[in-house]
Amino acid sequence: MESIKKEFESLINNVEDYEQLKQLKAKFLGRNGSVTNLFKKMSALNNQEKKEYGKKINELKNYIEDVIDEKYLDIKEKIRNKALESESVDITLPGRRKQFGAIHPITKTIMEIENIFSSLGFDVEYGPEIEQDMYNFEMLNIPKEHPARDMQDTFYIDDNTLLRTHTSPTQVRVMKHKKPPVMFISPGKVYRRDSDITHSTMFHQIEGLLIDKNIHFSDLKGVLSEFLQIFFGDVAVRFRPSYFPFTEPSAEVDIECIMCKGKGCRVCSHTGFLEVLGCGMVHPNVIKNVGYEDKWNGFAFGLGVERFAMLKYGIDNIRMFFENDMRFLDEFSYDAGRVL
Ligand code: PHE
Repeated sequence: MESIKKEFESLINNVEDYEQLKQLKAKFLGRNGSVTNLFKKMSALNNQEKKEYGKKINELKNYIEDVIDEKYLDIKEKIRNKALESESVDITLPGRRKQFGAIHPITKTIMEIENIFSSLGFDVEYGPEIEQDMYNFEMLNIPKEHPARDMQDTFYIDDNTLLRTHTSPTQVRVMKHKKPPVMFISPGKVYRRDSDITHSTMFHQIEGLLIDKNIHFSDLKGVLSEFLQIFFGDVAVRFRPSYFPFTEPSAEVDIECIMCKGKGCRVCSHTGFLEVLGCGMVHPNVIKNVGYEDKWNGFAFGLGVERFAMLKYGIDNIRMFFENDMRFLDEFSYDAGRVL
């Protein structure tokens, strides 16, 4: 037993991995192991000898088992330390944030405006971006040689087909298909040969139309003032006489400059006011063109969505909307949206 113990102790010192440990265990405690063989020799002994001898072998067996268990934990720890050294984790690296999608500021502005007008009872209608000359101009009281066509530089596809220059053709399309009264707004893309820091060849408008009986200019003023004050906050609203071929009388609407509160600054060209939309009472010729009886009348308006968004969110270059710069668009993500 003494020599088995010595042999074991010298061998265990050289064990370095699980495989060697397994072999060592088999050599001493396995079916043919030297300790197991000691038990087998016991059958030749008498009872008294068996008792003493058995006790000693058991002690040796337990001792070997304990040392092997210790060695096992030892190897396990060594493997772990090695892994920690080679697979180091840099806890100073910044975490990877989840990216949240965001609604585009133009879509967001359209949604806000739609919400306000739906709460006033307006429906939402849509018209095509490729439009007939007839709907974009003719039916809106703008005949072929009318000088008002110069107000809107047009992209023509052929003599009768064009990219709509405003959302007003939707007025005609809806009135041709629906019996009065009608009451809707119509958002969408429009196109003009015009491009600078505040103009883009493609931009968005929202058209509005209300046709009923006995509609007055005061109805137009009431609806638009209400809308502008909900959208921009409690600002002064001013109506100025203007001209559109499809409305009579026509007006342009200004709000008190939201940058300087009407005192005069660069944004409002020191006038204290900002022009935000065009409107007027629907021209009797338009009512006639769509086949409505002349007891029907109403008002229409049109606004530029980019302009509304630029004023509300303090954006000074219209190109920001179309460059898809994530740093800009992120400003309108869920988190930023709560601040605005
Ligand atoms: N369509 C006009 C524009 O684009 C705006 C407008 C719409 C004016 C409806 C009056 C009534 O400039």
